[in-house]
Amino acid sequence: MERVSALIQGDMQAVEGRFRENLTSDVPLIGQVGEYLLASGGKRIRPMLLLLAARLCDYRGDNHIELAGVIEFIHSATLLHDDVVDGAELRRGNRSANVVWGNEASVLVGDFLFAKSFSVMVGCESLKILQLLSDTTTQMAEGEAQQLLNTADLGVDEERYLRVIRDKTALLIAAACQVGAVLAEASPQQEAALREFGLEIGTAFQLMDDALDYVADQQEFGKARGHDLEEGKMTLPLIRAYAGADASERAEITKIIELEELSEVDFERVCALIEKYDGIEYTRLCAIERIESAKSQLNIFPDNEVRSALCILADYVVARNK
Ligand code: IPE
Ligand code: IPE
Ligand code: MG
Ligand code: MG
Ligand code: MG
Repeated sequence: MERVSALIQGDMQAVEGRFRENLTSDVPLIGQVGEYLLASGGKRIRPMLLLLAARLCDYRGDNHIELAGVIEFIHSATLLHDDVVDGAELRRGNRSANVVWGNEASVLVGDFLFAKSFSVMVGCESLKILQLLSDTTTQMAEGEAQQLLNTADLGVDEERYLRVIRDKTALLIAAACQVGAVLAEASPQQEAALREFGLEIGTAFQLMDDALDYVADQQEFGKARGHDLEEGKMTLPLIRAYAGADASERAEITKIIELEELSEVDFERVCALIEKYDGIEYTRLCAIERIESAKSQLNIFPDNEVRSALCILADYVVARNK
């Protein structure tokens, strides 16, 4: 990953700068919450992908900086809203904004970030990019809403799960990659390849996030372990365990997923069933498959250090522990 960072260090600093400037508001709460989120870091995967995709397609302008900031703004807005929806208390190893400032502030500052993203985007004067990112955010909202409807529904199978993670997570990552190509006026084939690359790694990214929710070291992960189960989230490790479970194990899972408060014992019991039915390993293998398919998309581009950097980022998605 150091090699990747080194390649785009200057651009990433510029992105952080724009990010901070775009947080400026006369309303102090917006700056405070935004700054809190900004200072807490985050992996910045999405802007990195946009910058690398633009460079892979030989883009020479400077709208990539602004748009990389926009993508991270949209991501930050969804995190503010997501933590309210999920009742999360920990984000990037710190108390989440909803705990520090309350749900109201998180929703409103999330709205500000969303709205601001679109004003900045308009300034970039590309109707195609505006359309792409409007469609993307619309579908992300649909993904989050569908996931809410799927809460504690043990009828959710792999296909329904995959649709949700595509919408809520993979599409933004795909858009980040595609925007790089659109900016550079790359060929339709190159644009499609980068979009597909992003869709595949975006799906793998959420698959790993859902596996890590069961098995991560909480310190490293920076989010609470077991929170998905507590919230009744139907994610692949659990779907896999439920599919393999016998009648009495299924009854146990059904009882636990409906509990308001999850005890340590219940969590460990579900973890044992996930282990018994290979839920984590299976999820990881699905992610690895996606990553391999993602990397193969890039074969149409010349083999250079930018393409290698994108492959390193892709591999990082499955190797990560945070
Ligand atoms: C978290 O995304 C939300 C998911 C899609 C799983 P990231 O893991 O990219 O969050 P940060 O920005 O690095 O904290
Ligand atoms: C959220 O998925 C994806 C978003 C679009 C925000 P999660 O709810 O699993 O993300 P984390 O684990 O809270 O980061
Ligand atoms: Mg969440
Ligand atoms: Mg969520
Ligand atoms: Mg998660």
